[in-house]
Amino acid sequence: MLRELEERFNQALAVLLPPDLPRPAGPRVALASQPQFGDFQSNLALTLAKPLGRSPRAVAEALVQLLHLEDLCEAPEIAGPGFINLRLRPAAVARELAARFADPRLGVSPAAQPQRVIVDFSSPNIAKEMHVGHLRSTILGDALARLLSFLGHEVLRLNHVGDWGTQFGMLITHLQEAYPEALQTANVLALGDLTSFYKQAKARFDADPVFQEMARQAVVRLQAGDPVALQAWRLLCDQSRLAFQEIYSLLGITLTERGESFYNPYLAEVVADLQTAGLAVEDQGAICVFLDGFTNKDGRPQPLIIQKSDGGYNYATTDLAALRYRITQDGAQRLVYITDAGQASHFAQVFQVARRAGWVPEDVQLVHIPFGLVLGEDGKKFRTRSGDTVRLRDLLDEAIQRAKTDLTQRLVAEDRQESAEFIDHIAQVVGISAVKYADLSQNLTSNYVFSFDRMLALQGNTAPYMLYAYVRVQGISRKGQVDWQSLIPAFDLAEETELVLAKHLLQFPDVIQSVAQDLLPHRLCTYLFELSQKFNQFYDRCPVLGAEEPWRTSRLGLAHLTAQTLNLGLDLLGIPVVERM
Ligand code: ARG
Repeated sequence: MLRELEERFNQALAVLLPPDLPRPAGPRVALASQPQFGDFQSNLALTLAKPLGRSPRAVAEALVQLLHLEDLCEAPEIAGPGFINLRLRPAAVARELAARFADPRLGVSPAAQPQRVIVDFSSPNIAKEMHVGHLRSTILGDALARLLSFLGHEVLRLNHVGDWGTQFGMLITHLQEAYPEALQTANVLALGDLTSFYKQAKARFDADPVFQEMARQAVVRLQAGDPVALQAWRLLCDQSRLAFQEIYSLLGITLTERGESFYNPYLAEVVADLQTAGLAVEDQGAICVFLDGFTNKDGRPQPLIIQKSDGGYNYATTDLAALRYRITQDGAQRLVYITDAGQASHFAQVFQVARRAGWVPEDVQLVHIPFGLVLGEDGKKFRTRSGDTVRLRDLLDEAIQRAKTDLTQRLVAEDRQESAEFIDHIAQVVGISAVKYADLSQNLTSNYVFSFDRMLALQGNTAPYMLYAYVRVQGISRKGQVDWQSLIPAFDLAEETELVLAKHLLQFPDVIQSVAQDLLPHRLCTYLFELSQKFNQFYDRCPVLGAEEPWRTSRLGLAHLTAQTLNLGLDLLGIPVVERM
């Protein structure tokens, strides 16, 4: 609808504007900011007043004379200084709704120019526990990747795991010392909890200079490709991978692992090329690039070190190599990185160096999505009571467990008998979805407080509320027993709540496009939440199954389309629906 209105405004503009005046930039029409202004609003007259040398109201009146909107809208209203307010006609809404009904994509057109997109997300570090920050990255990244694929983009979901670096020296040394048999017996690996393994290695490293020296040598051997060191390294990575995979399986998320080690062969070249380009210089033995716009304490340009004085490379070097590889080898046109806001300057620096080196063609977009922290209910960084990082496995298990308790109580209250299989399945879907939705429904830049009680509540902007709305709507359509394969309802939108719901349904494609454009999934959550509320208001006011024709079919059609929209919307967020709960 927006696009159609744009078109009509452009036609009017062509008549109104003298040919020598440039056409104003930006959209002609937008969704109305308040329902009392109608459905759409245009402030085009305000922009044109000056170039045309007329008052905004006079321009608005002239525009309205030239606009042909009779088939879509009621007579336009001019408000305030010269806003044009538009209200859709019920008949136009009904027509559009019928078109939507026949479309499995629910009106969302695929991108006109599909791009190759890389979403770099999750990306935990080997031999360390994945923390809530990685969980947030995983959930957000999956949702954005799903959405972009749905729009027809070719999406590569990359897990940039931290599987390389000096910490492997101490890990390998500790492995050889404490678990010598692990290197001989290929199959069994009883490293136990990797976090405590990491802690033990770190403790040894901090306490013992001999161990430190051994660790340093182990790094050198690893980087030189020594087979024993490599084998130990591989064992550690495999072990970690198993732990990560458990989380991904629970979340139903797939990723392609391409860790830091993958870029190892390209690091020397990155440094050499930046030196040849005159960007990288030697400073106190290290090789670095002096950054524009980043200054240190005494106001001098801050260096980005790309090779340390001992010859080692670091996080930034790997990201520079990865960025270049992704553009030249993967052919990516949009590179999206999802990490906590703490890494914002890291990415700003890496992007700057890559741009200055000329590695980023004009049509390639680099985006870092910096998200806020997950806090505990005390408002501080999320931790266990004893102050440790929360194990994600435990956290997800607890969400499922609590969902199960809630469900069991509800079943008793409703006097329902359900199989153990049903209960386990619903508890799992609700528990995991609650965690995902709590994360996705927040504006991603803000910190949010992790609360099981809030995310599992059946009321409010939560996953259980959304799943329940779907079940309810679906139940009504099911009872209506209409074979939609062969029938497209003629919509008859006489009641205000019907019209409000119908118009909201029509906004779905615009919401999806805006989420894809700005990469803000919470907008989709808000949309779905409002959709559920508008459906409930409609259902409170309008009898559906008991209504007479043509309203019965029309209202069943509204219910059906609401269910379809919830289903697709939730799917794009990585949340599966259930038929009963
Ligand atoms: N491994 C990093 C961490 O845990 C995140 C990596 C993000 N991706 C990247 N290309 N740097 O903080």
